[in-house]
Amino acid sequence: MSDKVYIFDTTLRDGEQVPGCQLNTSEKVVIAKELERLGVDVIEAGFAISSPADFQSIQEISKNVSEPVICALSRAVKLDIETAAASLQYAKRGRIHTGIGVSDFHIEHKFRSTHDKILEQGVAAVKLAKSYVEDVEFFCEDAGRANLPFLARIVTEVIKAGATVINVPDTTGYCLPDDYGAKIRYLFENVPNIDKAIVSVHCHNDLGLATANSISGLRNGARQVECTINGIGERAGNTSMEEVVMILKTHTDLKLQTNIRTERFCPISKLVSRMMNMPVQPNKAIVGANAFAHSSGIHQDGVLKKRENYEIIDPKDVGASESKIILTARSGRAALSHCMSKLGFDLEKNELEMAYKRFLEVADSVKNIEESHLIDIISEVRVAQGSFQKV
Ligand code: KIV
Ligand code: ZN
Repeated sequence: MSDKVYIFDTTLRDGEQVPGCQLNTSEKVVIAKELERLGVDVIEAGFAISSPADFQSIQEISKNVSEPVICALSRAVKLDIETAAASLQYAKRGRIHTGIGVSDFHIEHKFRSTHDKILEQGVAAVKLAKSYVEDVEFFCEDAGRANLPFLARIVTEVIKAGATVINVPDTTGYCLPDDYGAKIRYLFENVPNIDKAIVSVHCHNDLGLATANSISGLRNGARQVECTINGIGERAGNTSMEEVVMILKTHTDLKLQTNIRTERFCPISKLVSRMMNMPVQPNKAIVGANAFAHSSGIHQDGVLKKRENYEIIDPKDVGASESKIILTARSGRAALSHCMSKLGFDLEKNELEMAYKRFLEVADSVKNIEESHLIDIISEVRVAQGSFQKV
């Protein structure tokens, strides 16, 4: 099995479904071009039948982006598939992503149908999509809660009908990592023609497990991961691309590679956040404002001695500015001395002692220590020593 993992970005489809995140066509093209620079393999550009604007966005992205495969979503419905095919007319390499709910829950309560009818509809959808494009991805919606023998049965049949990629979504974010991984493994062990398709993971984050589940799926044979920038997406979001890619890059023992230019992560994260009006939480892994900030004395001392004492990722590798030392009342002398020196003041031992004493008083009384506080402190210390004229 290949060690290449295909990165399928759905920021502009699953991500854009979030209330308040809607973009117009020109904005979507800007993000799609950035995704191309980032090196994603597939861009899910929209849900063609959902609105004329989404249809137009898929067309414009197809015209403006040439490297990644451009994918259009559809339900397993004739008009959806025809519309998806039409939206892809300018794509150099187009993919139709079609599918249907496969869990007992969806079959009974959403479609009010039967397993046999769902299977028939799925197969017909793939055959129709295949009459337009070679590359057809089938999503087994709510696979996370599906009955395994039925999941294996429908996957076998849609591959026979021509599906090239099988998407196994944990639509509701229900699964635990071991169970999701076992589901993927079950497909490899029980679908006789599974070698004819790429298995894809698509995990939602309702229990905060989207990234862990995606990695578990990859460890059990999946080779495409569906994800979004900053993890945006329905409800609690999708798997965040920067997390999954950096896990693969950091854990080289997994022997799984992507083509992503990881130094583009912070710039694209900021662009998506700003354009979609979705702030990134400061403690977000990889791209959060605090991802490379150190504020406790013990950590600051360690990082200043050797960055790797407390950082497993080089900030440069993800396009973040260098590791930050944040001064708080928990900081130590090493951090204060470092920050003073960055401002151009190299402190003697006794100066540092005086400055540190004053620093703790200030830090206890304000929330954030600013550059102006440090200047005040050094000014006071040096005036007290008679070596600096206070301005
Ligand atoms: O979460 C999901 O099941 C989806 C499908 C439409 C692929 O987004
Ligand atoms: Zn989804």
